[in-house]
Amino acid sequence: MNETGVAVLGATGMVGQTFLWLLAGHDWFKPVYLAGSRTRGGRVYGDDICWRLPMQMPERIGRIELNALDIDECVDSGARIIFSALPSELAADVEPALRKRGLAIFSNAGAMRSDPDVPIMIPEVNPEALDLIREQGFPTGGFIVTNANCSTTGLALALAPLRTFGIEQVFVTTCQSISGAGYPGIPSLDICDSAIPFIPGEEEKIGTELLEILGIEIAIYPTCVRIPVRFGHLEMVWVKFAGSVRKDDILHAWREFRNEECSPLTPAIPVLHCEEDCRPRPDMSFSGEPPGMQVFTGRVREREGWIGFVLLVNNLVKGAAGGSIQNAEFFLRKHGDDT
Ligand SMILES: NC(=O)c1ccc[n+]([C@@H]2O[C@H](COP(=O)([O-])OP(=O)(O)OC[C@H]3O[C@@H](n4cnc5c(N)ncnc54)[C@H](OP(=O)(O)O)[C@@H]3O)[C@@H](O)[C@H]2O)c1
Repeated sequence: MNETGVAVLGATGMVGQTFLWLLAGHDWFKPVYLAGSRTRGGRVYGDDICWRLPMQMPERIGRIELNALDIDECVDSGARIIFSALPSELAADVEPALRKRGLAIFSNAGAMRSDPDVPIMIPEVNPEALDLIREQGFPTGGFIVTNANCSTTGLALALAPLRTFGIEQVFVTTCQSISGAGYPGIPSLDICDSAIPFIPGEEEKIGTELLEILGIEIAIYPTCVRIPVRFGHLEMVWVKFAGSVRKDDILHAWREFRNEECSPLTPAIPVLHCEEDCRPRPDMSFSGEPPGMQVFTGRVREREGWIGFVLLVNNLVKGAAGGSIQNAEFFLRKHGDDT
């Protein structure tokens, strides 16, 4: 496949850095336009940013020039796909403007998720959502595809193969890493040696996005907590099903849950169960195959008709940049010839 030129907006932030790390090793896409805020124009990526991922910055990325975000320059760059890691309030203006110019936008921002014509997509869970791009004007015009909020993504993947058992109620408590709040993010004095039992807007997002992605009516009760860990969101889940479901049924459903058609960032096994009681843990966030793209589960328990388990999702990879790139791969596999 020829490399498709892509732009990364918000390239200097936590999700933007993750995009660039993933794109450096991806042979379908070539970054042709990287943008940050006004002060970034004319600087070189490697010299100007505070690299915060636990691996080295890829050398070829470090040499690319940065731009101050500009719609016309982005269009003129020749990028056909736009990966957006912009703050939501900015994305609300920039993403529709780029769509109007005929571009395909794959976004992490929450701004456009409530638009009924904009899909919130996880290819393993609701691939049919991609058809909504036709309501936005594709194939003659541009479109926006979003991925879910990072905590929702992990939960939706673990629950997707369990839909067949009739999910009725879900209680989830998240322990979310500080990279989920971006960089520089939360002041250290607020989070060091502590935990913050409230993340503005997060519980509402889980409530609405989960139902849309799973396509079922369930009662969901989320509690979201920020914890002093750098990467990975851990979630403690209790689920009530319509009928009697045993631990072995759950493990079997996760084992059978597969991606048959694989692309570079599509895991063959989307949900991987850990047998040991001390796993999954946030320090496993960048493991798995492809790294950071699998959801890990563990500690499955049965209690009075409920099933409990723990899950781990990498908020920056599967929960953000990797999820967007996987959506773009899915789009190209399906519509490559129409673009
Ligand atoms: N972090 C996560 O785990 C996660 C997960 C899922 C979704 N998201 C969503 O992804 C988006 C990015 O999150 P993040 O964590 O990467 O945030 P971040 O670290 O704060 O990065 C924000 C990015 O936006 C750029 N930006 C800010 N103001 C701008 C302006 N006026 N013009 C152009 N660019 C501007 C910043 O550029 P400068 O560096 O030049 O200021 C930076 O590149 C958000 O919408 C967030 O809700 C984040």
